[in-house]
Formats: sequence, C-alpha cells, structure tokens
Amino acid sequence: MKVTVVGAGAVGASCAEYIAIKNFASEVVLLDIKEGFAEGKAMDLMQTASLNGFDTKITGITNDYSATANSDICVITSGIPRKPGMTREELIGINAGIVKTVSSSLIAHSPNTIIIVVSNPMDTMTYLVHKTTGLPKHRIIGMGGALDSARFKYRLAEALEAPISDVDGMVIGGHSDTGMVPLTRLATRNSVLVSEFLSEDRLNQVLEDTKVGGATLTKLLGTSAWYAPGAAVSGLVQAIACNQKKMFPCSVLLEGEYGLNDICIGAPVILGRNGIEKIVEIELSDAEKAHMQESAEGVRKTNSLLAL
Ligand code: LAC
Repeated sequence: MKVTVVGAGAVGASCAEYIAIKNFASEVVLLDIKEGFAEGKAMDLMQTASLNGFDTKITGITNDYSATANSDICVITSGIPRKPGMTREELIGINAGIVKTVSSSLIAHSPNTIIIVVSNPMDTMTYLVHKTTGLPKHRIIGMGGALDSARFKYRLAEALEAPISDVDGMVIGGHSDTGMVPLTRLATRNSVLVSEFLSEDRLNQVLEDTKVGGATLTKLLGTSAWYAPGAAVSGLVQAIACNQKKMFPCSVLLEGEYGLNDICIGAPVILGRNGIEKIVEIELSDAEKAHMQESAEGVRKTNSLLAL
C-alpha cells in the first residue's frame, strides 16, 4: 500500500505521522514544493520509527511527481491555511490553482489512485478535483466530516463530563463555520440519546462550538489546526487500505441523495478498498433538511467562484 501526501506542512506531516504510527501502509511519500522541506520532514519522521515502532517507509521529495507513481491513495493538503479571522472560503483564489495542478500531476503518475482532498475550502476543492480529473466519484473523497465529527464528540464528551469513548455522533453538510450540520438529535452516550442528559440550551452550545471548531483553533494557534485533521485523514486512509467498510461523513459528489445534485458536500459514506463504496442516506428531520439545503447553497456560492 503506497500513500502519497502532497504538502509537507503541519497537516501533511501530521497525516504522514499518524499513517506511519498505525503501521498499515508499506510506503508514504511526502511531497512539497519547498526545496528540501519534505525530505527533512520525512527524515525526522523516519527517525521516530524505532521509537514509535513502525515499519512504514516515509520518503520526502521536492515537487517530483514521478516519486509518487502508482500510489494507491493520494492525499492533497497543499495550499495556504487559514489565518485568524479568515473563513475557509477566502482561500479559494490561491488554493484552487494549486489543487488543480496537484490533482492533474498525481493522476498522470497514479491513474488508479483514490484521492483524499483536505485543502480548503474543502467541499469546493473536492468538486474541483472531480472537474479536473474526471475520476469516478467513488475515488474522490473530501475530508471534513470525519474531523468535524471528532470535534463534535470532543464537545459532547465535555458537556456530558463523560469519556469520549462513551460518545457517538456525526456532522454532515459543508465543512464551513455556517455549513456544518451536527446531528445532535441522533448523538448518543452508549446508545442513549444525549438529549436524555443535556438540556436543549447545552446541546445548542455544543452545536455552536462544533461549527466554529476550526476557527477557535485558528485563533489560538495563529494558523489552522493539524493534529485532528491529520488523525482524521489517517482514519480515512486506514479504512480504505484495510478495507474496513467503516462509515464516516465525507464530502462526496451527490447525485440526488439528500435532494442534492452536482455538488460535493458531507454525507455519511462507507469506505473500503474501492474508496466510497456506498452513500448512506439517513432520514433527516425537517430542520436538518433545511439546514442541509442552506449548507449546500453556501457551497454552491463558493463553487461559483471556480473558473471551470
Ligand atoms: C480545520 C481545517 C483543516 O477545520 O479545515 O481545522
């Protein structure tokens, strides 16, 4: 199993680290445009191998896509991250050009790859990868919902004063401060609805804190987060590599599901060796349906800025 991660910044390096630590891939190639940067990150990470007990071989390369040839999975993290006060949508001008070039270069060397898109604005970048590469929809996956759901579970556990392993929940919709649809109605603590434990006000607070999860960190860190994004990507990569048939909310091209068409947005999917093996349609409440439609309008507005 060969995995390429494009962009050796904090998110890309964190992806490579978590993939390696889980020890399921034979090879991770880290590629960056900055001379020597990916090589340095890869060497530093490889020097943790004996300490952390993994055998995954991590190599770094400066902008030479031939080193990525025949990757089974490629992760695109390239582009600029958010600065405090910025929305993900504001990154489109610079990141669209980068993601277009990167996805074409990856496909030229790995025509059978599955692509995971992390660059922001993520739903729009996932749509752009579809338009650029023409790959079948099951091979293009946007990473947002897995991260947002992890943040949701963190906030739920905090509110419940419970360990995170007690908590289950999912965030669908767009990966943006206004577009996320945390499914508080369905979230559980050991199969018991969280509404049994938390007031409506407290649940609304969880919902609001989840939606601005990325912005809260950007404000604290001065740039966007990397540990949880890296861990979320590694979860998707592992589900594909190990054919786990695990369910994650991911940005996927919808063709009628959830009443939406010609848009990439977060919906629950089953991930296995073929990428997206199924889109799961769950029955939403009227409020959730309306929120999903609103979220889609936001994504479409950003998509309209693409020069397709
Ligand atoms: C975040 C970025 C990765 O939410 O979108 O932290």
